[in-house]
Amino acid sequence: MSNLKVLGGKPLRLQPYPAWPVHDERDTRAVAAVIESGQWSGLPYPGPKAKAFAEQFARMQGGALAVPLASGTAALEVALRAAGIGWEDEVIIPAYAFQAIPVATLAAGAIPVIADIDPGTYCIDPEQVKLSLTSRTRAIIVAHLGAQLTDMDAIMEIADSYGLVVIEECSHVPGAKWHNQGAGTIGHFGAFSMDSGNILTAGEGGMLLCRTRDLAEKALSIADDGRPKDVTQDNFSLGTNYHLPEIQAALGLVALERLPEQIKQRADVVAYLEEGLSKLPGIRLLRTDIRHSVRSFYRYIFAIDRQAFGAEHNVVCFALAGEGIPCDPGYPAMHHYDLFQPWLSHLPVPSAFPERFQFEKLHFPEVERISEEEAVWLDEAVFRAGKPGIDDVINALKKLQDNRGEMQQLEEMRMKLFGLR
Ligand SMILES: Cc1ncc(COP(=O)(O)O)c(C=O)c1O
Repeated sequence: MSNLKVLGGKPLRLQPYPAWPVHDERDTRAVAAVIESGQWSGLPYPGPKAKAFAEQFARMQGGALAVPLASGTAALEVALRAAGIGWEDEVIIPAYAFQAIPVATLAAGAIPVIADIDPGTYCIDPEQVKLSLTSRTRAIIVAHLGAQLTDMDAIMEIADSYGLVVIEECSHVPGAKWHNQGAGTIGHFGAFSMDSGNILTAGEGGMLLCRTRDLAEKALSIADDGRPKDVTQDNFSLGTNYHLPEIQAALGLVALERLPEQIKQRADVVAYLEEGLSKLPGIRLLRTDIRHSVRSFYRYIFAIDRQAFGAEHNVVCFALAGEGIPCDPGYPAMHHYDLFQPWLSHLPVPSAFPERFQFEKLHFPEVERISEEEAVWLDEAVFRAGKPGIDDVINALKKLQDNRGEMQQLEEMRMKLFGLR
């Protein structure tokens, strides 16, 4: 008789963790008010709700100018285009992040150049950024990941020395601060997604924080079919429609009301989680940096040692999920995403520079180990089930370790299934 649920045993946790997104009558009222107002979209753009959402978002994150957009992917593309980055320009991107980053880079007409990550934070490693610089480098996109922030001091020092634009991808960390400065306000741009998986969600949507008025006007114009935003200009520029709909903005405003309390709730239990995790063998916590003055949690990511569990992270996550703990093994390594490789698309950049997309020849040791063996991403829901919810996480991990033989059996099955031996 097996003990692990995935092999036929009883699960450790029976009741589900709280669902996401959370909602109450405020969301319903906000949506109904937009419907009844008759103003469903913003022309002139932004509409009243999108404008209010952007202003409050900028206040929450700390002062930069905010441009409301249709999505986080659009925010990254618009940032690059507003900065004048395009054909033959190189943009350094992290080896561990969501695919939207290279996709937006390609959409802007630039070449993504992958740099490996820091195993202590899983964010881009400034030393690897330096090694990736060429005379064509124009920008660095950093991704603040899970609950970690990139070392922004080191990134800004490199950017200032080489005259580069910095875009912070902040979808995971609204509310987080570095040296008490809001994430997304340190670089030239901060891009946020409000899709329904993210912790500040409007269902869909994006926000772009811009360091200067000039950049914000350019970004707004690009997202508004090229309508001029600078009063000295009366001509359309090349833009597209990346409007944030009014209904989404109304939901975003309610989400902003909730965010401070949610950040506090997660922060209140994280010490308890970290204490429990650090007592378990074979678990390494990511680095907490004193400069990271306010933490905000999208996922809680930690590293496992496969020896302690008898299996690598895919199997650990599969078995943990069976025990009732919502988690996943995270992103693949950026050079293993195959969706933007030239033979799979006729996109202009990969077609024009196929030699820059021979990712199978590239090797990034840190991200390969992390994405193939080590990373476990706990779902944010574990923070919303109080200390008993955290206890279940720790006890489920213990259960896996106590049943190492069954875990090894699962690992053997995985190896056979994928022809790994
Ligand atoms: C977690 C996450 N979700 C989504 C996105 C993309 O945003 P969207 O889905 O709004 O286009 C990103 C951007 O990199 C992201 O990091």
